[in-house]
Amino acid sequence: MKAVRVPKLKAEEVRRFAERIGAKDKDRYVVCRGDYVEIPIYDGFEKYFEGYEIVEQENPVFAPKSDLFELLKNKIPKELWDYIPRRYKIVGDVILIKIPKELEEYKKLIGETLLRIHRRCKSVWRDLGKEGMMRKPKVELIAGEGSETIHRENRCLFKLDVTKVMFSVGNQGERMRVVKLVGEDEIVVDMFAGIGYFTIPIAVHTKARRIYAIEINPDSYHYLLENVEINNVENVIPILGDSMHVTPEGVADRVIMGHINCHEFLPKAIKALKGDGYVHYHETVPEVILERPIERVKRACELLGREVKIEGFRKVKNYSPGVVHVVVDAYIH
Ligand SMILES: C[S@@+](CC[C@H](N)C(=O)[O-])C[C@H]1O[C@@H](n2cnc3c(N)ncnc32)[C@H](O)[C@@H]1O
Repeated sequence: MKAVRVPKLKAEEVRRFAERIGAKDKDRYVVCRGDYVEIPIYDGFEKYFEGYEIVEQENPVFAPKSDLFELLKNKIPKELWDYIPRRYKIVGDVILIKIPKELEEYKKLIGETLLRIHRRCKSVWRDLGKEGMMRKPKVELIAGEGSETIHRENRCLFKLDVTKVMFSVGNQGERMRVVKLVGEDEIVVDMFAGIGYFTIPIAVHTKARRIYAIEINPDSYHYLLENVEINNVENVIPILGDSMHVTPEGVADRVIMGHINCHEFLPKAIKALKGDGYVHYHETVPEVILERPIERVKRACELLGREVKIEGFRKVKNYSPGVVHVVVDAYIH
């Protein structure tokens, strides 16, 4: 196993060069030997380091394998390899992972392996889905301890407890997209505010005059209040209650309906507008009936005698096989 031997002063420059040309062996660490540093390289790249000594490394220091599959495959029978999860979520310093039932007896091993890969994380929770309209998470602790965390995203802080409230890392793009649409002095109604998924980024990044943030679940509401505080924002009006009953009428320039199953709330959203304005309507929909969310928005407007222009229709993320989470941008007048 080869390495380039360079004086300490040159080490950073040569390491960068080795990485840039793909020569740096990622499985071995750079090691310091006296006044020299050994930069591990793959065989065949020696000629690119003219002027430096190429040595056969005597005591290479191996970097721990960082890929979950790589670390698990020697400990899990081959016939189960296909079930090893390739993806997981990191929320703050907590890891959430879906583990198929076939790997039930290996869940502790999976959790502990993840904590070895992500040393800054304190716990691993098995993600067993979300329940009901409140999207309450079903989780099980499989390694480490602690469920309350602070997730940082685009200069916003989201404090939450992963056993009580959900956090969709995959909705980040949509959160920032909406932020870019909000104009100065706008009044926004966030009908399903949760812990402030949309409310906080809008309050932090825009000059909105006011954001009404409605949330029905007391646990989420508790974190919404905390997040308003830790993000130092002053234009949020948190409301604890059912948006079917407490959504203010005739106030908003923009309404966010960030729940994947909320079509029955469309009339309330439309009535929340103070005149012309936008409704961002979310839905999970089977791909075979992809137009359903648009039709639902149009129908709700028709029933209220309002005109609507569909200005946008986009996928937020894949939800389940054959089902997508989409958002409709409707301009209503
Ligand atoms: C799943 S979260 C929204 C996720 C979010 N869109 C994101 O970007 O991650 C939806 C929130 O709506 C709340 N909710 C459900 N029904 C409600 C209602 N009738 N009124 C107010 N909030 C409600 C839930 O408790 C939950 O906190």
